[in-house]
Amino acid sequence: MPKSMRTVQRHILEEERIHEQATGDLTGLLWDLTIAAKVISQQVNRGGLADIFGDTGEANVTGDLVRRLDRIAQDTIYRAMDHGGHLCVMVSEESPDLIPIPKKYPKGKYVLLYDPLDGSSNIEANVSIGTIFSVHRRISASGDGTLEDCLRKGSEQVAAGYFLYGSSTMIVYTTGQGVFGFTLDPGIGEFVLTHEWMTTPAKGKYYSINEGNAEGWDEPTRKYVEYLKQKDPATGRPYSLRYIGSLVADFHRTLLYGGIFLYPADFSNPQKPKSKLRLLYEVAPMSFIMEQAGGAAISGTQRALDVQAATLHDKVPIILGSKQDVETYQKFCAQYGSGAKSAVLTGASK
Ligand code: AHG
Ligand code: MN
Ligand code: MN
Repeated sequence: MPKSMRTVQRHILEEERIHEQATGDLTGLLWDLTIAAKVISQQVNRGGLADIFGDTGEANVTGDLVRRLDRIAQDTIYRAMDHGGHLCVMVSEESPDLIPIPKKYPKGKYVLLYDPLDGSSNIEANVSIGTIFSVHRRISASGDGTLEDCLRKGSEQVAAGYFLYGSSTMIVYTTGQGVFGFTLDPGIGEFVLTHEWMTTPAKGKYYSINEGNAEGWDEPTRKYVEYLKQKDPATGRPYSLRYIGSLVADFHRTLLYGGIFLYPADFSNPQKPKSKLRLLYEVAPMSFIMEQAGGAAISGTQRALDVQAATLHDKVPIILGSKQDVETYQKFCAQYGSGAKSAVLTGASK
Protein backbone atom coordinates (compact mmCIF):
# COMPACT_ATOMS: atom_id res chain seq x y z
CA MET A 1 0.00 0.00 0.00
CA PRO A 2 1.49 3.38 -0.88
CA LYS A 3 1.75 5.94 1.93
CA SER A 4 -1.18 8.33 2.20
CA MET A 5 -0.55 11.79 0.82
CA ARG A 6 -0.98 14.71 3.21
CA THR A 7 -0.51 18.36 2.42
CA VAL A 8 0.67 20.86 4.99
CA GLN A 9 -2.67 22.66 5.20
CA ARG A 10 -4.53 19.41 5.82
CA HIS A 11 -2.01 18.54 8.51
CA ILE A 12 -2.20 21.91 10.26
CA LEU A 13 -6.00 21.78 10.14
CA GLU A 14 -6.09 18.31 11.67
CA GLU A 15 -3.62 19.34 14.38
CA GLU A 16 -5.72 22.36 15.26
CA ARG A 17 -8.93 20.31 15.44
CA ILE A 18 -7.47 18.48 18.45
CA HIS A 19 -8.07 21.67 20.43
CA GLU A 20 -11.74 22.23 21.13
CA GLN A 21 -11.43 25.99 21.47
CA ALA A 22 -9.45 26.35 18.21
CA THR A 23 -10.79 29.01 15.84
CA GLY A 24 -8.78 28.10 12.75
CA ASP A 25 -6.68 31.26 13.12
CA LEU A 26 -3.37 29.46 13.54
CA THR A 27 -4.17 27.29 10.54
CA GLY A 28 -4.92 30.39 8.49
CA LEU A 29 -1.75 32.11 9.64
CA LEU A 30 0.53 29.19 8.81
CA TRP A 31 -1.25 28.69 5.53
CA ASP A 32 -0.63 32.33 4.53
CA LEU A 33 3.03 31.86 5.42
CA THR A 34 3.35 28.90 3.07
CA ILE A 35 2.04 31.08 0.23
CA ALA A 36 4.74 33.67 0.94
CA ALA A 37 7.39 30.94 1.07
CA LYS A 38 6.30 29.55 -2.31
CA VAL A 39 6.77 32.99 -3.83
CA ILE A 40 10.22 33.37 -2.23
CA SER A 41 11.17 29.83 -3.23
CA GLN A 42 10.30 30.56 -6.84
CA GLN A 43 12.52 33.63 -6.83
CA VAL A 44 15.36 31.72 -5.17
CA ASN A 45 15.09 28.88 -7.70
CA ARG A 46 15.39 31.30 -10.60
CA GLY A 47 18.66 32.57 -9.10
CA GLY A 48 20.59 34.65 -11.62
CA LEU A 49 17.55 34.69 -13.95
CA ALA A 50 15.59 36.77 -11.44
CA ASP A 51 16.58 40.22 -10.25
CA ILE A 52 17.43 39.07 -6.72
CA PHE A 53 21.20 39.32 -6.39
CA GLY A 54 23.24 42.17 -4.94
CA ASP A 55 22.91 44.67 -2.11
CA THR A 56 20.42 47.40 -1.45
CA GLY A 57 23.24 49.61 -0.19
CA GLU A 58 21.55 49.86 3.22
CA ALA A 59 22.30 48.30 6.62
CA ASN A 60 19.64 46.85 8.93
CA VAL A 61 19.19 47.64 12.63
CA THR A 62 21.91 45.18 13.71
CA GLY A 63 24.39 46.52 11.19
CA ASP A 64 24.12 43.80 8.50
CA LEU A 65 24.14 44.83 4.87
CA VAL A 66 20.63 44.37 3.43
CA ARG A 67 20.70 42.22 0.30
CA ARG A 68 18.09 42.57 -2.43
CA LEU A 69 16.65 39.16 -1.59
CA ASP A 70 16.38 40.13 2.10
CA ARG A 71 14.15 43.02 1.02
CA ILE A 72 12.12 40.92 -1.44
CA ALA A 73 11.50 38.23 1.20
CA GLN A 74 10.59 40.83 3.83
CA ASP A 75 8.04 42.49 1.52
CA THR A 76 6.61 39.19 0.32
CA ILE A 77 5.93 37.96 3.84
CA TYR A 78 4.46 41.29 4.88
CA ARG A 79 2.11 41.34 1.89
CA ALA A 80 0.99 37.77 2.57
CA MET A 81 0.40 38.34 6.27
CA ASP A 82 -0.99 41.86 6.76
CA HIS A 83 -4.63 41.29 5.84
CA GLY A 84 -5.57 37.80 7.06
CA GLY A 85 -6.99 38.96 10.39
CA HIS A 86 -4.84 36.47 12.32
CA LEU A 87 -2.14 38.88 13.49
CA CYS A 88 -2.09 41.97 15.71
CA VAL A 89 1.54 42.88 14.95
CA MET A 90 4.66 41.57 13.22
CA VAL A 91 8.38 42.04 13.82
CA SER A 92 11.20 41.15 11.51
CA GLU A 93 14.95 41.02 11.68
CA GLU A 94 14.96 43.50 8.80
CA SER A 95 12.77 46.09 10.44
CA PRO A 96 13.89 48.31 13.35
CA ASP A 97 10.48 48.62 15.02
CA LEU A 98 7.16 46.84 15.31
CA ILE A 99 5.41 46.32 11.98
CA PRO A 100 1.77 47.30 12.58
CA ILE A 101 -1.20 45.75 10.81
CA PRO A 102 -2.73 48.41 8.52
CA LYS A 103 -5.74 50.20 10.01
CA LYS A 104 -8.14 48.90 7.36
CA TYR A 105 -7.61 45.25 8.32
CA PRO A 106 -8.90 43.35 11.37
CA LYS A 107 -6.46 42.58 14.20
CA GLY A 108 -6.04 38.99 15.32
CA LYS A 109 -4.76 37.20 18.39
CA TYR A 110 -1.30 36.20 17.17
CA VAL A 111 2.11 37.86 16.87
CA LEU A 112 4.52 36.89 14.08
CA LEU A 113 8.29 37.25 14.44
CA TYR A 114 10.45 36.34 11.48
CA ASP A 115 13.81 36.24 9.77
CA PRO A 116 12.67 36.72 6.16
CA LEU A 117 15.88 35.50 4.56
CA ASP A 118 18.39 33.54 6.56
CA GLY A 119 21.85 32.88 5.18
CA SER A 120 22.15 36.08 3.14
CA SER A 121 25.88 35.58 2.60
CA ASN A 122 25.10 32.42 0.59
CA ILE A 123 22.55 33.85 -1.87
CA GLU A 124 24.71 34.24 -4.96
CA ALA A 125 26.57 30.97 -4.32
CA ASN A 126 23.45 28.82 -4.89
CA VAL A 127 23.80 27.44 -1.36
CA SER A 128 20.81 26.62 0.87
CA ILE A 129 19.09 29.57 2.53
CA GLY A 130 15.82 29.87 4.42
CA THR A 131 13.09 31.77 6.25
CA ILE A 132 12.48 31.36 10.00
CA PHE A 133 9.26 32.13 11.85
CA SER A 134 7.98 32.24 15.42
CA VAL A 135 4.38 32.72 16.57
CA HIS A 136 3.15 33.94 19.96
CA ARG A 137 -0.35 34.44 21.30
CA ARG A 138 -0.85 38.13 22.15
CA ILE A 139 -0.98 39.15 25.80
CA SER A 140 -2.54 42.57 25.23
CA ALA A 141 -6.33 42.52 25.19
CA SER A 142 -7.22 43.98 21.79
CA GLY A 143 -6.36 46.49 19.07
CA ASP A 144 -2.82 46.90 17.77
CA GLY A 145 -0.20 44.55 19.19
CA THR A 146 2.36 46.04 21.59
CA LEU A 147 6.06 45.71 22.31
CA GLU A 148 5.18 43.48 25.30
CA ASP A 149 3.38 41.12 22.93
CA CYS A 150 6.70 40.62 21.16
CA LEU A 151 9.30 40.61 23.95
CA ARG A 152 8.70 37.08 25.12
CA LYS A 153 10.42 33.92 26.22
CA GLY A 154 10.79 31.20 23.61
CA SER A 155 8.94 28.80 25.91
CA GLU A 156 5.74 30.80 25.27
CA GLN A 157 5.75 30.21 21.50
CA VAL A 158 2.65 28.54 20.07
CA ALA A 159 4.34 27.64 16.80
CA ALA A 160 7.74 27.91 15.16
CA GLY A 161 9.31 26.69 11.98
CA TYR A 162 11.43 27.34 8.96
CA PHE A 163 11.37 27.12 5.21
CA LEU A 164 14.51 25.70 3.65
CA TYR A 165 15.27 26.71 0.08
CA GLY A 166 17.70 23.92 -0.73
CA SER A 167 17.96 21.25 -3.38
CA SER A 168 14.25 20.99 -2.58
CA THR A 169 12.08 23.47 -0.68
CA MET A 170 10.78 22.33 2.69
CA ILE A 171 8.79 23.55 5.64
CA VAL A 172 9.63 22.10 9.06
CA TYR A 173 7.42 23.25 11.92
CA THR A 174 6.10 22.53 15.38
CA THR A 175 3.09 23.65 17.36
CA GLY A 176 4.42 21.92 20.45
CA GLN A 177 3.12 18.51 19.40
CA GLY A 178 6.13 17.10 17.59
CA VAL A 179 8.05 18.25 14.54
CA PHE A 180 6.86 17.67 10.97
CA GLY A 181 8.52 18.29 7.64
CA PHE A 182 6.90 18.80 4.23
CA THR A 183 8.55 19.03 0.83
CA LEU A 184 7.29 21.34 -1.89
CA ASP A 185 6.23 19.33 -4.92
CA PRO A 186 6.85 21.87 -7.69
CA GLY A 187 4.56 19.97 -10.06
CA ILE A 188 1.47 20.56 -7.95
CA GLY A 189 2.65 23.56 -5.91
CA GLU A 190 1.87 21.86 -2.57
CA PHE A 191 3.97 21.06 0.47
CA VAL A 192 3.52 17.30 1.01
CA LEU A 193 4.33 15.46 4.25
CA THR A 194 7.69 13.72 3.92
CA HIS A 195 9.10 13.80 7.47
CA GLU A 196 6.76 12.66 10.23
CA TRP A 197 7.49 13.02 13.96
CA MET A 198 11.03 14.19 13.35
CA THR A 199 13.49 13.32 16.10
CA THR A 200 17.15 14.12 16.42
CA PRO A 201 19.56 11.29 17.34
CA ALA A 202 20.68 11.29 20.99
CA LYS A 203 24.29 11.72 19.83
CA GLY A 204 25.81 12.69 16.50
CA LYS A 205 29.05 12.66 14.54
CA TYR A 206 29.11 16.25 13.31
CA TYR A 207 29.89 19.60 14.87
CA SER A 208 29.07 22.92 13.30
CA ILE A 209 30.73 26.19 14.26
CA ASN A 210 32.49 29.08 12.54
CA GLU A 211 36.07 28.16 13.48
CA GLY A 212 37.31 31.46 12.10
CA ASN A 213 36.03 32.99 15.32
CA ALA A 214 38.09 30.67 17.57
CA GLU A 215 40.21 33.49 18.96
CA GLY A 216 37.14 35.01 20.62
CA TRP A 217 35.80 31.80 22.19
CA ASP A 218 35.76 31.28 25.92
CA GLU A 219 37.79 28.51 27.56
CA PRO A 220 35.00 25.87 27.69
CA THR A 221 34.22 26.24 23.98
CA ARG A 222 37.89 26.06 23.06
CA LYS A 223 38.48 22.94 25.15
CA TYR A 224 35.27 21.33 23.89
CA VAL A 225 36.14 21.80 20.22
CA GLU A 226 39.65 20.41 20.89
CA TYR A 227 37.96 17.40 22.48
CA LEU A 228 35.74 16.87 19.41
CA LYS A 229 38.84 16.62 17.25
CA GLN A 230 40.10 13.64 19.23
CA LYS A 231 39.02 10.08 18.49
CA ASP A 232 35.48 9.44 19.74
CA PRO A 233 35.63 6.01 21.48
CA ALA A 234 32.11 5.29 20.18
CA THR A 235 33.09 5.57 16.49
CA GLY A 236 36.90 5.40 16.52
CA ARG A 237 36.91 8.74 14.64
CA PRO A 238 36.87 12.38 15.61
CA TYR A 239 33.73 14.42 14.97
CA SER A 240 33.51 15.83 11.44
CA LEU A 241 33.08 19.54 10.86
CA ARG A 242 30.10 20.72 8.80
CA TYR A 243 29.44 24.46 8.51
CA ILE A 244 27.37 26.12 5.83
CA GLY A 245 26.83 29.58 7.32
CA SER A 246 23.04 29.49 6.86
CA LEU A 247 21.46 28.70 10.21
CA VAL A 248 18.46 27.02 8.57
CA ALA A 249 20.69 24.64 6.63
CA ASP A 250 23.09 23.95 9.51
CA PHE A 251 20.14 23.41 11.80
CA HIS A 252 18.31 21.10 9.39
CA ARG A 253 21.33 18.85 9.05
CA THR A 254 21.82 18.80 12.82
CA LEU A 255 18.15 17.92 13.31
CA LEU A 256 18.32 15.00 10.87
CA TYR A 257 21.78 13.60 11.54
CA GLY A 258 22.38 14.71 15.12
CA GLY A 259 25.48 16.40 16.48
CA ILE A 260 25.92 19.94 17.69
CA PHE A 261 25.65 23.48 16.32
CA LEU A 262 27.36 26.30 18.19
CA TYR A 263 27.34 30.05 17.77
CA PRO A 264 28.95 31.02 21.08
CA ALA A 265 29.65 34.53 22.32
CA ASP A 266 32.73 36.35 21.08
CA PHE A 267 34.99 37.55 23.89
CA SER A 268 37.67 39.18 21.70
CA ASN A 269 36.91 42.33 23.67
CA PRO A 270 36.26 40.95 27.17
CA GLN A 271 34.75 44.29 28.20
CA LYS A 272 32.22 44.11 25.42
CA PRO A 273 31.41 40.50 24.50
CA LYS A 274 29.10 40.08 21.53
CA SER A 275 26.79 37.50 19.99
CA LYS A 276 25.64 36.97 16.42
CA LEU A 277 22.32 35.17 16.33
CA ARG A 278 19.08 36.92 17.10
CA LEU A 279 17.00 35.69 20.02
CA LEU A 280 13.53 36.33 18.64
CA TYR A 281 13.99 35.41 14.98
CA GLU A 282 16.61 32.67 15.09
CA VAL A 283 17.45 31.30 18.55
CA ALA A 284 13.96 30.95 20.05
CA PRO A 285 12.22 29.27 17.08
CA MET A 286 15.11 26.86 16.40
CA SER A 287 15.39 25.98 20.10
CA PHE A 288 11.66 25.18 20.24
CA ILE A 289 11.96 22.85 17.25
CA MET A 290 15.09 21.20 18.64
CA GLU A 291 13.49 20.50 22.02
CA GLN A 292 10.36 19.19 20.31
CA ALA A 293 12.57 16.80 18.34
CA GLY A 294 14.11 15.48 21.56
CA GLY A 295 17.29 17.56 21.39
CA ALA A 296 18.53 20.36 23.63
CA ALA A 297 19.26 24.07 23.23
CA ILE A 298 21.15 26.29 25.66
CA SER A 299 22.26 29.91 25.71
CA GLY A 300 25.17 30.42 28.08
CA THR A 301 24.20 28.55 31.22
CA GLN A 302 20.46 28.78 30.58
CA ARG A 303 17.92 26.76 28.64
CA ALA A 304 17.58 28.89 25.49
CA LEU A 305 13.77 28.86 25.68
CA ASP A 306 13.94 30.55 29.10
CA VAL A 307 15.79 33.63 27.88
CA GLN A 308 13.61 36.69 28.19
CA ALA A 309 13.91 39.19 25.34
CA ALA A 310 14.79 42.71 26.51
CA THR A 311 14.76 44.39 23.10
CA LEU A 312 13.48 43.35 19.67
CA HIS A 313 16.94 42.71 18.28
CA ASP A 314 18.68 40.99 21.19
CA LYS A 315 21.49 38.67 20.17
CA VAL A 316 22.48 35.73 22.35
CA PRO A 317 24.82 32.72 22.20
CA ILE A 318 23.28 29.42 21.12
CA ILE A 319 24.39 25.83 21.42
CA LEU A 320 21.91 23.20 20.23
CA GLY A 321 21.61 19.67 18.93
CA SER A 322 21.69 16.11 20.19
CA LYS A 323 21.03 15.84 23.90
CA GLN A 324 24.22 13.96 24.75
CA ASP A 325 26.39 16.33 22.73
CA VAL A 326 24.91 19.40 24.43
CA GLU A 327 25.34 17.72 27.82
CA THR A 328 29.01 17.10 27.09
CA TYR A 329 29.42 20.79 26.20
CA GLN A 330 27.76 21.70 29.49
CA LYS A 331 30.27 19.51 31.34
CA PHE A 332 33.07 21.54 29.76
CA CYS A 333 31.31 24.73 30.87
CA ALA A 334 31.09 23.42 34.42
CA GLN A 335 34.75 22.39 34.40
CA TYR A 336 36.36 25.37 32.65
CA GLY A 337 33.76 28.14 32.69
CA SER A 338 33.72 31.17 34.88
CA GLY A 339 30.16 32.25 35.62
CA ALA A 340 30.59 35.64 33.99
CA LYS A 341 31.98 34.27 30.76
CA SER A 342 29.28 31.74 30.12
CA ALA A 343 26.50 34.14 31.13
CA VAL A 344 23.80 35.00 28.66
CA LEU A 345 24.39 38.21 26.77
CA THR A 346 21.34 40.18 25.92
CA GLY A 347 21.01 43.55 24.28
CA ALA A 348 21.44 44.18 20.58
CA SER A 349 25.20 43.69 20.83
CA LYS A 350 26.87 44.07 17.48
P1 AHG B 1 21.05 36.35 8.25
O1 AHG B 1 21.39 35.99 6.84
O2 AHG B 1 19.59 36.24 8.55
O3 AHG B 1 21.64 37.68 8.67
O4 AHG B 1 21.67 35.25 9.22
C1 AHG B 1 23.00 34.88 9.08
C2 AHG B 1 23.34 34.08 10.26
C3 AHG B 1 22.96 32.62 10.21
O5 AHG B 1 22.25 32.21 9.11
C4 AHG B 1 24.26 31.87 10.25
O6 AHG B 1 24.15 30.82 11.15
C5 AHG B 1 25.26 32.88 10.69
O7 AHG B 1 24.73 34.14 10.41
C6 AHG B 1 26.56 32.76 10.00
O8 AHG B 1 27.42 33.65 10.56
P2 AHG B 1 28.99 33.67 10.23
O9 AHG B 1 29.10 34.10 8.81
O10 AHG B 1 29.52 34.67 11.22
O11 AHG B 1 29.51 32.30 10.48
MN1 MN C 1 19.32 34.67 9.96
MN1 MN D 1 18.03 37.36 7.67
